[in-house]
Amino acid sequence: MKLRTRLIIVFLSILIIPTIVFYICLRIISANIGLVELDVANQIMALVFLLLLITASFFCTWIYYSIFSPISKLNEAMKEIRDGNMECVLEPQTHDEIGELFQNFEEMRLRLKESAEEKLKYDRESKELISNISHDLKTPITAIQGYMEGILEGVADTPEKQEKYLRTVYNKAKDMSRLIEELTFYTKIDTNKIPYNFSKINVYNYFSDCIEEVGLELESKGIILGYTNSTDKDTLIIADGEQLKRVINNIISNSVKYLDKAQGIIDIRVKDSLDSILVEIEDNGCGIAPKDVPKVFDRFYRTDASRNSLKGGSGIGLSIVKKIIEDHGGRIWCTSTEHIGTVMHFVIRKYQEVYRS
Ligand SMILES: Nc1ncnc2c1ncn2[C@@H]1O[C@H](COP(=O)(O)OP(=O)(O)OP(=O)(O)O)[C@@H](O)[C@H]1O
Ligand SMILES: [Mg+2]
Repeated sequence: MKLRTRLIIVFLSILIIPTIVFYICLRIISANIGLVELDVANQIMALVFLLLLITASFFCTWIYYSIFSPISKLNEAMKEIRDGNMECVLEPQTHDEIGELFQNFEEMRLRLKESAEEKLKYDRESKELISNISHDLKTPITAIQGYMEGILEGVADTPEKQEKYLRTVYNKAKDMSRLIEELTFYTKIDTNKIPYNFSKINVYNYFSDCIEEVGLELESKGIILGYTNSTDKDTLIIADGEQLKRVINNIISNSVKYLDKAQGIIDIRVKDSLDSILVEIEDNGCGIAPKDVPKVFDRFYRTDASRNSLKGGSGIGLSIVKKIIEDHGGRIWCTSTEHIGTVMHFVIRKYQEVYRS
C-alpha cells in the first residue's frame, strides 16, 4: 500500500471513527436520558466534525510535507544514482531523522562518486598501460624480425655479420625480458601484491655496503663515485633492504644512462634531516628540462630527449622508485639543470621517531 493511500486512510479514520462513535453516544444520551435535545445534538455533532476536519487536515498535511515529500525527494535522488548521475546533491534541511537520512545519503553519494571516479581512472590507466606495453614490445620484436630475416635471407653473409645480427637479436630479447620483468614487478607492487620485509636497518652500515657494491660497477665504467654520510653511526630506519637497493640501483642506472660528459661523476650524500634521513644522488649528466622535472616519476614518462635518443627504456624505473619510497612513508623529488646534471632527493623517517610519535 502506498504511503499516500495510508495517509488518506489515517485522515478518514481520524475524521469518521470519532464522529460516528460520538454521534452514536449523543443519540443514545438524547434518546434514553433526554439530557440533550436532538437539534442541539446535531449542532454539537456538526461542530465536532468541523473541529476534527480541521485538526485531521492540519496533521495529515504536516505529516505529508515532513515525511512524504522528503521521501519522494530521496527516491528521485536514488533513481539518479542508479542511472549513474552522481551529482544530485541532497542538502539536509532539518535536524531530525530525515535530516540524518539526507546526511547519510550525501555521504554515500560522495563515496560512490569517489569510487566511480577511481574506477574510471583505473580503467584509463589500464588502457594506457596496455597500449604502452604493446608499443614497447613491438619495437624490439620488429628489430628481432628484421635481423632474423637478414640472417635467413643471407644478408648477413659473413660470420662477423651473422654474429653481429645474432648479438643484436640477443640484446633485443634481453630488453624485452627486462621490460616484462619490470612491468610484472610494477603491477605487483601497484596492487600491493609484494609484501615488504621491513626491518630495522643501520643507515651507516647499509649505505657503506651499497656504495661498495655499486662502486665496483661504476669504477669499471670509469665513473667517479663520491660518498658522504653525515648521519649518526647508530641511526636506524625501518625499511625493506632489498627494495631500498632497487631504489638506489634504479636512480644510479639512470645517472649512468643519461651521462653525456667525458668524465662521469656521481655523488651520493646521506644526511640527517630532523626526524628523517635525506639521501641525495647527484650526477653530472644531461639534466632534465624544467617542464619535464615534475613528470619524470609518472609511469611511462620519458623526456623528449631520451625518447629521441638511442638509449633504451620504458619510463617505468622512476615510477617504481616513487612507489617504493612512498610505501616506506617517505617522499622523493628531483632537481635538475639542463646540460649540468640532476639530483634525486628522497627522505625516509628514522626508526626512533616513528615509535615516539
Ligand atoms: N639522472 C637523469 N638524468 C637525466 N634524465 C633523467 C635522469 N633520470 C631520469 N631521467 C629522465 O626521466 C625519464 C624517466 O626515467 P625512468 O627511469 O622512469 O625511465 P627510463 O630510464 O627512460 O626507462 P626505464 O628506467 O624503465 O628503463 C627518463 O626517460 C629520462 O628522460
Ligand atoms: Mg630508468
